[in-house]
Amino acid sequence: MPATVNREIVLASRPDEIPSESDFRAVESPIPSPSEGEVLVRTMWLSLDPYMRGRIRDAPSYSPPVQIGEVMVGGIVGEVIESRTPAFQAGDIVNGSLGWREYATSDGSDLRKVDRGLGPLSTALGVLGMPGMTAYFGLLDVGQPEPGDTVVVSAASGAVGQVVGQIARIMGCKVVGIAGTAQKVDYVINDLGFDYGINYKTEDVNSALSNLCPEGVDVYFDNVGGHITDAVMEHINTGARISVCGQISQYNLAEPEMAPRNMRLLITNQAKMEGFLVGKFAGNFEHARERMAGWIKSGTLRYREDVVEGIENAPRAFIGMMSGENFGKLLVKVSEE
Ligand SMILES: NC(=O)c1ccc[n+]([C@@H]2O[C@H](COP(=O)([O-])OP(=O)(O)OC[C@H]3O[C@@H](n4cnc5c(N)ncnc54)[C@H](OP(=O)(O)O)[C@@H]3O)[C@@H](O)[C@H]2O)c1
Repeated sequence: MPATVNREIVLASRPDEIPSESDFRAVESPIPSPSEGEVLVRTMWLSLDPYMRGRIRDAPSYSPPVQIGEVMVGGIVGEVIESRTPAFQAGDIVNGSLGWREYATSDGSDLRKVDRGLGPLSTALGVLGMPGMTAYFGLLDVGQPEPGDTVVVSAASGAVGQVVGQIARIMGCKVVGIAGTAQKVDYVINDLGFDYGINYKTEDVNSALSNLCPEGVDVYFDNVGGHITDAVMEHINTGARISVCGQISQYNLAEPEMAPRNMRLLITNQAKMEGFLVGKFAGNFEHARERMAGWIKSGTLRYREDVVEGIENAPRAFIGMMSGENFGKLLVKVSEE
């Protein structure tokens, strides 16, 4: 019998610091019908990403916050099961921001057809999706690595970090990954080909970098901010580029930490620090996606996914990601492909 119920996860309350499962609520409603000009999409994969922590905070940002009672925002890959627009047909696989729910209608304006030939459908949310694009452009356009450069990346085993380090290797750089468990460090070295790894929970990042990178750091891809970034800054070379991608160490804090003021290192090293949002590069995504799909097919670029089953488990998985429980790109398998 075809499903009739649509399960959705809404924001129930705003956490001050670490979110809890009670900040989210599962609600059920009938599966919606598409109006003229719309499609009905069945979600197969939901992406869980650190930016969502910002969206449940009622503070000015680059996007408006999710309101209490509203469905959580999130990127999905799903199947069009009914279309009332010539732009899509039933059976099309699409990627868009339809939120934490099993079914959604859309006018299609924010939907992209997924090319099944590029890779497994889940990759449209990971290595060939938003995190992969972030890694590609944040490293190549913002970090501008040169062959022989030393590149350091934090949150190195995560969705963005694992791709950053591998592209840096492809570019002929020496790569050091910083991550939060021995297994993650082992993975980036032995499975992904990074040169070195540092476990920031058991090692002193500053002295580890002195040992591993006596020649200094040319590019730092910053996913985390805080004390890890302070330590890396002590090692930057003249002309270094710091690509400020994320500051996850700060996202669960009611007030950001006041870090040591080491900006003088940018002056003395004539270095550049640049923040970016991946959407800036949207016009070039298709080219990057095809290039990266080629690297995956040739075995040059690998990826790891961390899959949780069932929409009801999205809140717990999201909360866990904010403290490093995920190992690779975090995805919820919402329904069968
Ligand atoms: N600028 C953009 O357009 C853009 C786009 C996408 C993502 N981002 C940013 O990129 C970063 C990585 O995102 P992702 O999707 O790839 O997530 P991810 O790395 O797959 O998952 C988050 C990881 O962050 C690490 N982490 C959590 N708390 C930490 C802390 N206090 N200190 C250090 N590390 C911590 C954990 O790994 P460990 O176990 O290693 O600690 C956790 O697994 C995030 O900061 C995100 O906001 C930015």
